Amino acid sequence: MSTTDQAQPQAKELKFPPGFVWGVATAAYQIEGAIDEDGRSESIWDRFCATPGKIKDSSSGAIADDHYHRYPQDIKLMQELGVGAYRFSVAWPRIIPNGTGAVNQKGLDFYDRLVDNLLEAGITPYATLYHWDLPQVLQDKGGWANRDTAYAFADYAEVVVKHLGDRVKGWITHNEPFCASLLSYRIGEHAPGLKDHHLALRAVHHILLSHGLAVPRIRQHTDAPVGITLNLWPIHPANPANEADIAAAQRSDAENNRLFLDPIFKGSYPPDYLERQAPGALPVEPGDLEIISTPIDFLGVNYYNRQVAEADPQNPDGWHNIKPAGVYTSMGWEIYPAGIYELMVRLNQEYTKLPIYITENGSSGEEPPDQQGVVNDELRLNYIRDHLHQLQRATQEGCTVAGYFAWSLIDNFEWSWGYSRRFGIVYVDFDTQERIIKNSGHWFSQVARSNTLPSH
Ligand code: FCB
Repeated sequence: MSTTDQAQPQAKELKFPPGFVWGVATAAYQIEGAIDEDGRSESIWDRFCATPGKIKDSSSGAIADDHYHRYPQDIKLMQELGVGAYRFSVAWPRIIPNGTGAVNQKGLDFYDRLVDNLLEAGITPYATLYHWDLPQVLQDKGGWANRDTAYAFADYAEVVVKHLGDRVKGWITHNEPFCASLLSYRIGEHAPGLKDHHLALRAVHHILLSHGLAVPRIRQHTDAPVGITLNLWPIHPANPANEADIAAAQRSDAENNRLFLDPIFKGSYPPDYLERQAPGALPVEPGDLEIISTPIDFLGVNYYNRQVAEADPQNPDGWHNIKPAGVYTSMGWEIYPAGIYELMVRLNQEYTKLPIYITENGSSGEEPPDQQGVVNDELRLNYIRDHLHQLQRATQEGCTVAGYFAWSLIDNFEWSWGYSRRFGIVYVDFDTQERIIKNSGHWFSQVARSNTLPSH
């Protein structure tokens, strides 16, 4: 027997590609607070939170993490975590309080301070221009159902990029158009809380149009890459051997994924989706799809779970989602790590070879600090670890994955769930605003610093 035969198999180090970006993500309304300061106007989320019954714990983002004042401390936390990048969002109501027209210098000043502090700390800023906090004045004129909002967004985008374009290293026009349109105008779970299919499809189109209008306006003021973040799901048939379930999964895929991917990458809406809508339901004007499909530099993907569709002739959509046996987070979302791999493969095969950034991934979990002040969030640590294994597998197979941003840096205002769900890799005591790095944060820190996954 040779010595090599006797040697134990080496634990394989799982390296990510050189230059892979490791970051953490947040959004303005979820962390900033300071809703009445320095000339910020009311946003649709302020209004929605003030409407009884909309937020589970009747809370709001009025104070949230008080990040507007505590950002230097939060940047120190990022340094402690050793992450190289930070994805934040800019609040439109701080920059152009009337939605259109006059620019509020004090609003720009806040993001100036934030970006400069990040750069001093050696952390690369990535900015999202719209993470759902539309100025309420624009909602009063119809919000995203009104085509004018698309043009207002492009103007706002240009103002921000003119100011920060020399320092921000990546621009994301929109976060999750699905949520800003269908979830907000049709399902009614997010602001403005409407339940109107017709308005929802107008919102879909105008949000996508606003993205396409903004891209060249952004490029006028920066060389930094420009992209958009979509939330996507692998959608599986409940019974893969059943024709009706396969068709159900395709229908769901059309509305949830292809309705957003196709116009951006193919310059058309999915034909099978259009067939099922009234003519003109998507208010496309000549030239719109060319604008929407303006080439971008990267795609952002937020991945949390998959969907499993079952045929349902009683349902006007023709399908409903089922919950297969498995492990679920406190959001009721199935933990399905292979989905992140499946998505990367599909996107590369069917849509694009552009760099793909995972701009959000993470898990809820509400464990408090123990007597020693340790937050042992095992489920979240395992969630992130297992998803990173699947992502690493995708990179090994040549998928164009360029970075990963954990959602979220800190526990924060989780939209209609208020503070009842926690996604941070850092715990926040909302009474004292104390921050404590959770075990998942310590673990993620090692991965980010070494660009390597520890083997199981
Ligand atoms: C995403 C949102 C993000 C956060 C996570 C849990 O849909 O983009 O703001 O709420 O879900």
